[in-house]
Amino acid sequence: MGSKLSWILVFLILIPTGECKRIAGEGCTSQDLMGLTRFKAAIHVDTSGRLETWVGRHCCKWDGVYCNNRTGRVSEIRLPGFLSTDDFIAQTQMEGWLSPSITLLGSLEVLDLGGLISLAGTIPSSIGFHLPKLRKLYLYSNNLTGPVPLSIGKLSRLEEIHLHENLLTGSIPASIGILQNLNRLLLYSNRLSGPIPESITNLTNLVSLDLHGNSLTGHIPVKIGALQVLKELDLSDNLLGGKLPLSVTNLTAILVLYLDTNLLEGEIPFPSISGEMPSLGFLRLNDNHLTGRIPSNIGNLVSLRRMSLANNRLEGPIPSTLGNVLSVTEIYLDKNRLSGQIPNSIGRLSQLMHLSISNNLIEGPLPSEMSSLHYLQELDLSFNALNLSSIPKWLGRMPSLCRVFLAGAGIQGNFPELLRTTPSPLLELDLSFNHLTGIIPEWLGSLTQLYSLNLSRNSLVSKIPSTVRSLCDLGVLDLHSNKLSGPIDVVFQIESRFSEGSLSYIDLSDNHFSGKIEQIGTGPQSKIGFLNLSHNYLISRLPGSIGKLVSMRSLDLSYNKLGFGLPESLANVSSLEKLKLQRNRFTGEIPNGFLKLRALKELDLSDNLLVGRIPDGEPISDFPRSSFSGNRGLCGKPLSPC
Ligand SMILES: *[C@@H]1O[C@H](CO)[C@@H](O)[C@H](O)[C@H]1NC(C)=O
Ligand SMILES: *[C@@H]1O[C@H](CO)[C@@H](O)[C@H](O)[C@H]1NC(C)=O
Ligand SMILES: *[C@@H]1O[C@H](CO)[C@@H](O)[C@H](O)[C@H]1NC(C)=O
Ligand SMILES: *[C@@H]1O[C@H](CO)[C@@H](O)[C@H](O)[C@H]1NC(C)=O
Ligand SMILES: *[C@@H]1O[C@H](CO)[C@@H](O)[C@H](O)[C@H]1NC(C)=O
Ligand SMILES: *[C@@H]1O[C@H](CO)[C@@H](O)[C@H](O)[C@H]1NC(C)=O
Ligand SMILES: *[C@@H]1O[C@H](CO)[C@@H](O)[C@H](O)[C@H]1NC(C)=O
Ligand SMILES: *[C@@H]1O[C@H](CO)[C@@H](O)[C@H](O)[C@H]1NC(C)=O
Repeated sequence: MGSKLSWILVFLILIPTGECKRIAGEGCTSQDLMGLTRFKAAIHVDTSGRLETWVGRHCCKWDGVYCNNRTGRVSEIRLPGFLSTDDFIAQTQMEGWLSPSITLLGSLEVLDLGGLISLAGTIPSSIGFHLPKLRKLYLYSNNLTGPVPLSIGKLSRLEEIHLHENLLTGSIPASIGILQNLNRLLLYSNRLSGPIPESITNLTNLVSLDLHGNSLTGHIPVKIGALQVLKELDLSDNLLGGKLPLSVTNLTAILVLYLDTNLLEGEIPFPSISGEMPSLGFLRLNDNHLTGRIPSNIGNLVSLRRMSLANNRLEGPIPSTLGNVLSVTEIYLDKNRLSGQIPNSIGRLSQLMHLSISNNLIEGPLPSEMSSLHYLQELDLSFNALNLSSIPKWLGRMPSLCRVFLAGAGIQGNFPELLRTTPSPLLELDLSFNHLTGIIPEWLGSLTQLYSLNLSRNSLVSKIPSTVRSLCDLGVLDLHSNKLSGPIDVVFQIESRFSEGSLSYIDLSDNHFSGKIEQIGTGPQSKIGFLNLSHNYLISRLPGSIGKLVSMRSLDLSYNKLGFGLPESLANVSSLEKLKLQRNRFTGEIPNGFLKLRALKELDLSDNLLVGRIPDGEPISDFPRSSFSGNRGLCGKPLSPC
């Protein structure tokens, strides 16, 4: 790995930068030289090799150093950790400290050390007194500690502050509000605390403000609606957590406001008037403690594309003015206390692709206007007070809908036939916690693109139809707590489109399944990580092929009628963290090989017919007595000596 990286870097370094950084004369000023030399001295490992070129007096020729060709002073340091060209990408490292001597470079306009993930130290507290020309400060994705210095407010030419993804503490200095030229303020994923200074509402050129992933408290600045500019948004970083839909391709003229995962409280104070924040494109206020209603002026945010207000304490209705936000593609309002009905006006949101309002107090019926949401792919209305009785017919005809989450929606009767012929193949279906009765239909097998199926907590009574074998993309199958019966083996025969199976999560617990487990581990190379077959009537032995489920982390077969010896091969499932086999009829000794299950954190073998000495050693004999109780024949630590 190391040698491959340096090989890549040889090529990178040989690529001409194409930038003119020549400078005549006898070299750099001694002040610039001292600043750079001390910077280099504080770095003890540089996997990019760039600092090796830092010798002599002609610092303007050094890698990553750029000078003003009039004054000869160093104007830019560009040493980003992540290097990419059309042909190569590489993450390089500089281990060491950010030297405070960087402040000797008095003509510096750009400081880019972004992505050097091992660069430790603090942002020099005097930075504001010494770098008056600084326009761009890129110290993101480093390992910097300490505060954002107060003196930053003196850097009046600053246009961009990228300090995200560090370990910065303290509060955001109010002095930032003086930086009239600032258009990007990215402080996300740090440990900043205290309030958001009201002074940031002074930053009228701000295009992007991202403070998410801190511990900020207090209210959202009342006048934040005064921030209203159009500018380009650079999304080269993982700003949106990788969730940006592919269809959002025009990202010019978008203002980002991220304030999530803090603990902000109070009401959403914007937009207070029509015409405020006309270019706001992405709004994330999720995971806070915001209260009050969703402002009805929200309809004035005409550029809004993606909005999350999820996981707050918002109450009252969803304002019908939301129907004016015509360019919105994603709305997340889950986990609030919103009530009333979904407004009819929602049908006007012709670009909407994702709508999530789960875990609120929304009442039914659903407005039929929703049927005109032609681009809607994902609809999550789980756990509201919908009391739908049945899924509305129009829902089965929505042209793009492929992810449907209607758990706890009061749906009654048979498995909805209208899902058989949806225009877009279903990928995810959650009808758990409803009142479905009758059978799981054979035609389920025709939903061949299904990835996730959750029918748990209903009153379904059939066998698992043999057609499920053709669900070759199925990854998650949750049928727990129904009255399903018959054999379960068909689940382990699910064909896969790939050499490795897709199935990773299977919960068939708390049903009336019976018969033997024979086909387990015989299918395609298994990815099953979670398997729960507990509380059924499964009989006979556990086949040795179970040892082929090498990705398994949680196995629960408790409360069945399984018997015979515990298969030795289970010892091969080294990723196993939970093993629950209690309340069965297993006989024989606990295989000594179980000592290989080093990842095991929970073990329950109680109430079986096991005998002999408990394997002596970690992790097995460290479990409490209750893990082994109810087996008359067992002895040794933690039970009484043999
Ligand atoms: C350097 O000089 C060239 C012309 O000689 C000019 O076009 C360019 O803008 C200058 N660059 C800087 C950074 O001053
Ligand atoms: C960042 O610093 C912490 C100690 O403050 C250290 O444990 C961690 O390994 C460092 N991270 C990197 C990537 O160097
Ligand atoms: C707001 O900006 C003005 C300059 O336009 C400045 O004089 C004032 O101090 C700033 N206010 C705050 C609170 O930073
Ligand atoms: C993207 O948006 C900008 C600003 O709204 C607009 O000028 C431009 O024409 C749009 N580009 C495309 C390809 O739609
Ligand atoms: C749900 O709807 C049914 C009729 O469809 C009605 O009998 C029942 O009372 C409703 N439940 C609630 C909690 O409103
Ligand atoms: C299926 O739904 C139930 C009840 O709604 C939920 O508790 C469970 O976590 C879901 N299963 C999966 C795999 O998400
Ligand atoms: C397996 O399912 C049962 C019944 O549904 C549940 O009580 C148990 O917690 C589940 N086991 C695991 C490991 O999740
Ligand atoms: C465990 O895996 C190894 C290597 O795949 C295999 O040789 C061995 O037979 C397995 N042990 C058991 C008991 O199945």
